Amino acid sequence: MANKRKKLTVIGAGFVGSTCAHWAASKELGDVVLLDINEGSAKGKSLDLFEASPVEGFDSKVLGTADYKDTADSDVVIITAGLPRKPGMSRDDLLATNAKIMKDVCLGIKENSPNAVVIIVSNPLDAMAYVAKEVLGFPRERVIGMAGILDSARFRSFIAEAANVSVKDVHAFVLGGHGDTMVPMPNHCSIGGAPLTKFLPQEKIDAIVERTRKGGAEIVGLLKTGSAYYAPSASAVQMAEAILKDQNRVLPCAAFLQGEYGINDLFIGVLCQLNGKGLEKVVELDLDETEKAGLENSKKAVEELVNALSQLEY
Ligand code: LAC
Repeated sequence: MANKRKKLTVIGAGFVGSTCAHWAASKELGDVVLLDINEGSAKGKSLDLFEASPVEGFDSKVLGTADYKDTADSDVVIITAGLPRKPGMSRDDLLATNAKIMKDVCLGIKENSPNAVVIIVSNPLDAMAYVAKEVLGFPRERVIGMAGILDSARFRSFIAEAANVSVKDVHAFVLGGHGDTMVPMPNHCSIGGAPLTKFLPQEKIDAIVERTRKGGAEIVGLLKTGSAYYAPSASAVQMAEAILKDQNRVLPCAAFLQGEYGINDLFIGVLCQLNGKGLEKVVELDLDETEKAGLENSKKAVEELVNALSQLEY
């Protein structure tokens, strides 16, 4: 039997979704389907991207559609559908509108790709992942939120710039919810294996932690018409790649916790091992008292949002 090519569906052909399709196709992760309720946008961007393939030399089909049937049997689905925030809005302000969109999307995925691993990108991230898991009814291995890679990428790029070192040598991660309470972990950061304090004074590290927490808002404030998309889509595609290529990568992602860190039934950013199954396991760290308090605070913020969800009709 011929080998089946991998199939990756991206839901939402806005800036984040279409940029996901771009990274995924150019990395030849498989054939890409880009779905949007705006059929023309999905079809136009997909055709345009496919027409770039002879020039860039990537061998991925790219199909645009508004019909979930075209997404059938996807190995991985990335959900970016939903409204982005505008200046002055928090991610949480998007809760009601995006919960409804998330529900409709997940019904389409459940029917057509019951075995897919689903990566959630829409905001407010931790709550949208919760809605997705509820509607899909998939095990936690196959519903994972993207936020930690993005927040960590911001953290890493600010550190690299301040320390004047290559981004490639900066290892750092952010845990917790994808909001103002996220928990950057400077004590777990290393530059080429050496601690961050060898390179930067404490006040600079504190300033970088603060800038990381507000990294999404910094971009929204500059763009004025929407939110970030290059780094969010690169991050989602890194997760898709880890899954499609069964890489066993260890990356910060939002996982549905079942007892880790004493947290139950909530999506929170933690270190995860990702492979062909999706989430292989959550890597639980020993946290110091400050980190524990930070995670607890972040958990409360996510919990409040999930409680607010239960008051909504969606
Ligand atoms: C951000 C949005 C996408 O952090 O949540 O940029």
